Amino acid sequence: MSTDLAIETSGLVKVFGDNRAVDGVDLKVAAGTVYGVLGPNGAGKTTTVRMLATLLRPDGGEARVFGKDVQKEADAVRSRVSLTGQYASVDEDLTGLENLILLARLLGHPKPAARERAAQLLEAFGLRDAADKQVKNYSGGMRRRIDIAASILNTPDLLFLDEPTTGLDPRSRNQVWDIVRAVVAQGTTVLLTTQYLDEADHLASRIAVIDHGRVIAEGTKGELKASVGSGAVHLRLREAEQRPEAERVLAAALGAEVLLDADPVAMTARVSAGSSDRGAAEQAAHALAELARNGITVDNFSLGQPSLDEVFLALTDKKGEAA
Ligand SMILES: Nc1ncnc2c1ncn2[C@@H]1O[C@H](COP(=O)(O)OP(=O)(O)OP(=O)(O)O)[C@@H](O)[C@H]1O
Ligand SMILES: [Mg+2]
Repeated sequence: MSTDLAIETSGLVKVFGDNRAVDGVDLKVAAGTVYGVLGPNGAGKTTTVRMLATLLRPDGGEARVFGKDVQKEADAVRSRVSLTGQYASVDEDLTGLENLILLARLLGHPKPAARERAAQLLEAFGLRDAADKQVKNYSGGMRRRIDIAASILNTPDLLFLDEPTTGLDPRSRNQVWDIVRAVVAQGTTVLLTTQYLDEADHLASRIAVIDHGRVIAEGTKGELKASVGSGAVHLRLREAEQRPEAERVLAAALGAEVLLDADPVAMTARVSAGSSDRGAAEQAAHALAELARNGITVDNFSLGQPSLDEVFLALTDKKGEAA
């Protein structure tokens, strides 16, 4: 197995009773990247992460972290990874500063170095003012940030972030995203689990979609979106009275249903790359030319990829049909 991979698993399995929580997962995560593992509640994300972080013994298959087997070379794996759990590890009764100093001391830092590292991280994570507050008085967003700070006291080569933003407001989520980007910029590989498609969209370069313990799709964001094979054309017309004619021309040019927006000059149509020899952009260009040929003035036009939400629904739908 190659070592420029931070993670490589094949046929990874974890069984709880008769529940195959992880049911043959194959993953390849390139070092230095953010890899997203996306899936609904109970999909097997945490279980997968816990096996990779050597906290849980696999019942089948194989997993390597930087080329080291998670079972046979667990110590070597542990020395290079860190985990920020869905259910985290800092002490509620200690202050943020006390927590970080304590953990740094446990990692073997001498006292002055521990203090310095703790102060540095509190500053970097926007927690300087909260340094002397007990963690039980932190907001959800502050709590998540201190959890991540605690997990990167020693810069790990691989950081597992298990749903780092679940339950956070948009501003706090953005702060966590910035932290993730900063961690990656320092060379750490991040495996991020999330239920939020836009989070994977913002942070991850590749994504595995898992459901019922299996990987149901994998690829770059672009590949996942392209696999659904459709995009949406949004149009704004100059004049509202041209909309019925524009609707007719657009429907004929694209062979697709046109949706009229509440805004009387706006409309939307699906473009399916799979249904025609032409690509989505070419179909959209053809539609625009047809509108112009019919004397319809278009003020604004965009061709969007489907959102990851649409991708996710399409993937889980497909699975439903197959079952
Ligand atoms: N220690 C355990 N004992 C028994 N069953 C477990 C245990 N841990 C997880 N499970 C089960 O395994 C399945 C996968 O759980 P897991 O926690 O990995 O899902 P998840 O994708 O992390 O979900 P969530 O988004 O809710 O965190 C679920 O059916 C869960 O009930
Ligand atoms: Mg979980």
